[in-house]
Amino acid sequence: MSTEPDTAPGEALDGELATLLEVETFDPPAEFRERALLNDPAVYAQAAEDPQAWWVAQAEQLDWFQKWTRVLDDDDPPFYKWFTGGTLNVSYNCLDRHVIAGRGDRVALHWRGEEGQERDITYAELLADVERFASALKDQGVQKGDVVGIYLPMIPEVVVAMLACARIGAPHNVVFGGFSAEAVRERMEFSEAKLLITVDGAARKGKTAPVKDRVDEVMGDLATLQTIVVVRSLGTPCQMKDGRDVYYDEITATADPACPPEPLDAEHPLYILYTSGSTAKPKGILHTTGGYLTGVAATHRYVFDLRPESDVYWCAADVGWVTGHSYIVYGPLANGATSVMWEGAPDYPDKDIWWEIVERYGVTILYCAPTAIRACMKWGADWPGKHDLSSLRLLGSVGEPINPKAWLWYHKVVGSERCPIVDTWWQTETGAIMITPLPGITQTKPGSATYPFPGVFAEVRDESTGEPIQEGQGLLVLTQPWPSMLRTLYKEPERFIETYFKRFGKETYLVGDAARRDSDGYLWVIGRIDDVVNVSGHRLSTAEVESAIVAHADVAEAAVIGQHDEDSGQAIVAFVTLQGDLAGDEQTVEGIRATVAERIGKFARPKRIIWADDLPKTRSGKIMRRLLRDIAEGRALGDVTTLRDPAVTEQLEGQVKEMQAQED
Ligand code: PRX
Repeated sequence: MSTEPDTAPGEALDGELATLLEVETFDPPAEFRERALLNDPAVYAQAAEDPQAWWVAQAEQLDWFQKWTRVLDDDDPPFYKWFTGGTLNVSYNCLDRHVIAGRGDRVALHWRGEEGQERDITYAELLADVERFASALKDQGVQKGDVVGIYLPMIPEVVVAMLACARIGAPHNVVFGGFSAEAVRERMEFSEAKLLITVDGAARKGKTAPVKDRVDEVMGDLATLQTIVVVRSLGTPCQMKDGRDVYYDEITATADPACPPEPLDAEHPLYILYTSGSTAKPKGILHTTGGYLTGVAATHRYVFDLRPESDVYWCAADVGWVTGHSYIVYGPLANGATSVMWEGAPDYPDKDIWWEIVERYGVTILYCAPTAIRACMKWGADWPGKHDLSSLRLLGSVGEPINPKAWLWYHKVVGSERCPIVDTWWQTETGAIMITPLPGITQTKPGSATYPFPGVFAEVRDESTGEPIQEGQGLLVLTQPWPSMLRTLYKEPERFIETYFKRFGKETYLVGDAARRDSDGYLWVIGRIDDVVNVSGHRLSTAEVESAIVAHADVAEAAVIGQHDEDSGQAIVAFVTLQGDLAGDEQTVEGIRATVAERIGKFARPKRIIWADDLPKTRSGKIMRRLLRDIAEGRALGDVTTLRDPAVTEQLEGQVKEMQAQED
């Protein structure tokens, strides 16, 4: 994958964009810089000199029931602890303290439903809902430390559910609504969730998915799961199992309206979020209370230059991913922000819905993924052109590398060249933004996430020597602990060490991304070094998709790779060997795609399936994915002598050519 500006052959930039690209760097607009919360570059040196003092200053912005006795406990790396001895409550910080300070009437969420429904929820209302639901969870037997699963669409109840869990100290385990019920079951099983909160049905582009019934199909025999709470969202009929299932509205109606926040240790688990790693088994990333909230609140304030009294902030992600956890729920609410929450897709009811929402609520800060920007770019500037976007003052990007062409389109068409762009690099594991411009300070280069946030220390290391690289490409690492870092992999401490702290030792976090450092010290994140693919900002492991494909009765073997894709960043390509003499046809393709949708979710379905008589393997039987990538992209193969059977590649190359001819 190239880190150079995206002017690959065949990709024509229009004249104006090409001129902008030549400029290469963009200064923060003078007016923005003058008024920015952070506009003195000295902040970097100060934080570097005494990172603990910097993080203490950030932690002090929160309300603690009891102050910490130690800032960083680094006695047993990589099991770091932050703010030990301190106690606090995340929901108190996100709700009560704003209401107590007289800000209860401020809108916390402008919720907008797919069909144009609107709900404005103030901080006082959200607090009341959270207290009631937290009481209801206790009534259902949930205790501090019990894991609660959440499988909900983008409706306000998902925020209520997360904060109610945080209020009573029950770590939540949210599963993205796009995952299948099978994937939910697996995550409930791994985390031994006691209770699951789900919904009768979910709206998606005018259709209804019967969520509860699908959950029932797979959840029946899960012994640890004692209760299922069902939110009546669309009125979709569903079965309720006696003694296990209860309705959200019924249990909250009878619950105590008061539920005082539990004072929790700074290191009390706040949530588990499963994410894809190199193997088929997802990793349970564990985040805790004090350090996590410190990290998300500080980054949300400074990266977005947030003015809670005047900004309308919109993170157009899904709460089911870490972006939603940190920058729809915890960061913005801890900072007392007014946010927009949009239920649906960017193209329903029509392709200007995002811009209609920006205009309707006067959105000032927009944070979204490059995939969405590329889609908007494809649909054309007329859609945003129909709306008044002059309220926007800052734009953000997250989840995958943003190609300079999309960056420039965002800058020009959406931001009218007036809004700084923050390209934020981070991960489920890091909890909060790690590498990013500061909008009032940093000169940006389209495609680069620029520098680490103050108090964060990143390096690019040489793959073979492990030495830091001043200029050039290598492995991205974080060299000092930070408050919002994952604490472990849930129930898998050995895998935690093995995955992140084996390569460079227990004090250096291996990110799993390749990156380049340019002569100005700018960081350019290139992509994953492991078998993780990023499809439209959705993180998937090739092994996970392979194991879903082989679950299809006709399949003998499968190898999955990520291929560069103009729309989705990467696309899933599967090489599939069928059982015996079976020949693959359109029906088999559909069957395989359906199996993947059922096992993981629709978003994981392979875009291309290539039939393979056999797969290129080394003599020891290892599949050579590098060759598969070359074959899929139609590149010359080079040395194939280490293969057990070099003829295999010819068959595959022929197959790809044949498919291309058919597509043309
Ligand atoms: O490869 C990097 C890419 O997304 C990965 C993390 O995925 P996930 O844990 O799902 O979190 C996504 C949202 C924070 C990273 O290892 N990535 C994320 N942001 C960027 C990025 N790649 C390049 N530029 C970014 N801004």
